[in-house]
Amino acid sequence: MSSNQSINNYKKQAPRNMHQDLSPPPYSNTDQRRDPNTGDPASSTEREGPTAVSHAHPSRAPARATAAVTAATLHLLPYHPPRPAPGVQIDESMLEDHTSFLRTVAAFRHYLNQATAARDMRQTNFLKLQKQHKNVLCIDLEEMFSKYSSCIKENSEFFECVCEASEELFLNYWPEGTLVEPHEVPMPSPLDMDKVFSTLRQFVRDWSSEGQTERECVYKPVLDFFESKFPSREERSEVRILIPGAGLCRLSVELAFRGFFAQANEFSYHMLIAGHYIQNHCVESRQHLIYPYCDNTCNLVNRQDQFAEVALPDFCAAEGLDDLHAKGLQFGELSMVAGDFTEVYAKAEQHRSWSAVATVFFIDTAHNIVEYLQIIYDLLLPGGYWVNCGPLLYHFADSTEDLSIELSLGEVLTVAQRIGFVVASAPKFVDTTYTNNQRSMKQLVYRCAFFVLQRPLE
Ligand SMILES: C[S@@+](CC[C@H](N)C(=O)[O-])C[C@H]1O[C@@H](n2cnc3c(N)ncnc32)[C@H](O)[C@@H]1O
Repeated sequence: MSSNQSINNYKKQAPRNMHQDLSPPPYSNTDQRRDPNTGDPASSTEREGPTAVSHAHPSRAPARATAAVTAATLHLLPYHPPRPAPGVQIDESMLEDHTSFLRTVAAFRHYLNQATAARDMRQTNFLKLQKQHKNVLCIDLEEMFSKYSSCIKENSEFFECVCEASEELFLNYWPEGTLVEPHEVPMPSPLDMDKVFSTLRQFVRDWSSEGQTERECVYKPVLDFFESKFPSREERSEVRILIPGAGLCRLSVELAFRGFFAQANEFSYHMLIAGHYIQNHCVESRQHLIYPYCDNTCNLVNRQDQFAEVALPDFCAAEGLDDLHAKGLQFGELSMVAGDFTEVYAKAEQHRSWSAVATVFFIDTAHNIVEYLQIIYDLLLPGGYWVNCGPLLYHFADSTEDLSIELSLGEVLTVAQRIGFVVASAPKFVDTTYTNNQRSMKQLVYRCAFFVLQRPLE
């Protein structure tokens, strides 16, 4: 297989039910979104996308300056005359989905403006200092702010690659161009923009050497479980593993490279667009340098920490495929299904069709965790496994608008057993961070629960 061949059998299933992420990226270590005392996410019930209902803004405004988002500053995808694919019935929900998608692309493209506005505000503040104070500063302001600008530019160029690659995502539906007109695409919201900044951190977590420590903590126990449970590589392509809330998909890619049938599921366009690029469009490892911390000016130990560069990806899937084939090993199967887990996988046709469900930092995204447990149970074949690693930082716990059922770990396990699961491996605790900046003076550690439950053989 050539090195630029697409590895991801992207299931461009009907993009209906594909929503913007409903909550801010709650584990992200961007200081702006966390309560400074508890480390908990600043509460937000803002909902995006087709099912938007409430618009309470985050209780704590982002620290960065917000550049005014106007139509003039937006960079929208080129508009072509509308002509849907033959046989495709365009309905309202497809238009809404594509509008949300275009809004997310516009948010990625707006990074340059937003980040530059924050940089300019910081520079202005420094320049306001009285001479006496400036004289004692140990910073070459010109050099520092020029470095800051070039980091933003590099990040923005990287995002442009991500956006360009995303144009093919809806080609099944709009081969001749979308019916959505530019003026129908809403401005990216502050939350959209926040997620763009946190996507940089997600890239570090899943696709850089710097993220390896985090991945070792939470992905490795999952991978080790599957490798030891299914030692024969030849049989692994029959082992169907679903990974809901897959983020940027490193875990699903790792499983497929070990020969398993892996299906990732995500509903955030930020993750889908970014994940598509890193899996399918990178042609060599360390192809990009990004500066994920250049927008964070708090908790710096040293100034250079702000401008730390991170190479992406540490593992290039296309190169990995060539290596695998050179060794005579089979790649498993890899696919991505876009949509809400509770909608796509609650369907009867999904019942009893999965050998395993692997959830990492996912189950607390539930409005109703009992529903998640029941769906996971129903998905499994008799004898199938649910492998989990993550905390219980319920995403909607602070919401006054959304349903949020918050169970303790003990309650989760009890409810799961009442649904029918048996405990295959009792919880072990794993201390880990999430999208952490190792250099920062702020470190937030989760005590994640790793456990394996099994649907009994009947
Ligand atoms: C905290 S992140 C974890 C991502 C990844 N598993 C990791 O460990 O890096 C949770 C992910 O679940 C996704 N998610 C949340 N609720 C979802 C749902 N109902 N259906 C599909 N994806 C969902 C979010 O978009 C987000 O990418």
